[in-house]
Amino acid sequence: MKLKIAVLAGDGIGPEISVQGVNVMQAVCQKFGHEVTFTEALCGAAAIDAVGDPFPAETLKVCQDADAVLFSAIGDPRFDNNPSAKVRPEQGLLAMRKQLGLFANIRPVQTFDCLIAKSPLREDLVRGADFVCIRELTGGMYFGEKKEGDDYAYDTNAYSRPEVERILKVAFEYAMRRRRHLTVVDKANVLASSRLWRKVAQEMAPNYPEVTTDYMYVDNAAMRMIQDPRFFDVMVTENTFGDILTDEGSCISGSMGLLPSASTGESTPVFEPIHGSWPQAKGLNIANPLAQILSVAMLFEYFGLAEEGKLVRQAVDASLDANVRTPEIQVEGGEKYGTREVGEWIVNYINAQ
Ligand code: IPM
Ligand code: MG
Repeated sequence: MKLKIAVLAGDGIGPEISVQGVNVMQAVCQKFGHEVTFTEALCGAAAIDAVGDPFPAETLKVCQDADAVLFSAIGDPRFDNNPSAKVRPEQGLLAMRKQLGLFANIRPVQTFDCLIAKSPLREDLVRGADFVCIRELTGGMYFGEKKEGDDYAYDTNAYSRPEVERILKVAFEYAMRRRRHLTVVDKANVLASSRLWRKVAQEMAPNYPEVTTDYMYVDNAAMRMIQDPRFFDVMVTENTFGDILTDEGSCISGSMGLLPSASTGESTPVFEPIHGSWPQAKGLNIANPLAQILSVAMLFEYFGLAEEGKLVRQAVDASLDANVRTPEIQVEGGEKYGTREVGEWIVNYINAQ
C-alpha cells in the first residue's frame, strides 16, 4: 500500500514525540512492504510565529493531499496567559477539524496493567475498563453562533439532524464491532439540542437491534465513569460534553501519556495523542511517546492494516513489560528512559520481528 502522511508536530513536546511516531511508522511500513512518505507542515504556535496563522492554507493543502495526518500537540503558555491575544494556537486545531470535516473524534479509554496502581481510582473498579468515547467534533458550542461583549456574551449549542445522524451512525457501527452496548450521553432533561439527539437516537436504534442502547444524562455519566467505568462499551456525545468526559476518561487509566485518538469525517483523517503540548517538558526528552505511537496503530487499523496495527501494539506492550518506560510510568527504582530511547527500543523490537 502507498501511504502519504502529513506530519503536524506542532508545539511543546509535539516535535519530540512526532519523530518517534514517524520512526515507528517507517519501521512497520518497511517490514510489511508499504511505501510511505512524510510531509511536514506547520501548525499551532509554531505556525503563528512563522506565518501569523495557526493553521495556514499551505498546511491545509498538505493535509488534503495526504491519506492521513499524524498530529502531535499544539498550545503555548505565551497565549494562555494573554486573554487579549488575537490569534491562539487552539484556533488552529479547530480550523483543522472544521476544514477537514473531522466530525467524529474517537477516544478509546483503556487500562494497562502496569499503570493500574497510578489510577486515582480503586484498582478493583478500574481493572478491565475498556470503552470508547465518540465525541462529535465540528458542531455544538465550539462552532455555534457566539457573541463576546464586555458585559454580555453567549455561545450557542446548535445541532442539525444530519449532524446528529452521521455521528450516531459512527457510534452504532462502532458498537456493532465491539460489545454492542451504546450509551447516548446528553442533557435532554434541560437542553433542546439534547432532546434532538435523543429523538434521533431513538429513531435509529431499531436499525441496530443487536445493540443495547441506553440514554444517560451527562452529569450522571460523569459520575458513572468514576463509580463503574466497566459499565461502558461505546458512548457517544456532543462536542462540549465529549471534551469534558474524555479528560475524565483519560485519567481512569492512570496516565494521559498512553491514550491515542482518531478524528475522522469527510476528508483526511487525523491521528493524535489525547494529551496536550506539555510546554514545561519541551526539549527535556521526558515525554511519553506511547500515545503518539499508539496513534500510528490506530492509523494502520483505519486503513484495514490490522497486522501492522497489532505489531505496533505488541511492541508497545513489550516495551512496558521490559520496563523501558518514561519517568512518569516507571516503577519505583526502575531505570528511567527518555522519549527517544523508548522510541528507539520500539523500532528495534519491530525490526527484530
Ligand atoms: C481537546 C482539547 C481541545 C478541545 C482544545 C485544545 C481546543 O481540549 O482536543 O480535547 O477543547 O477540543
Ligand atoms: Mg479536551
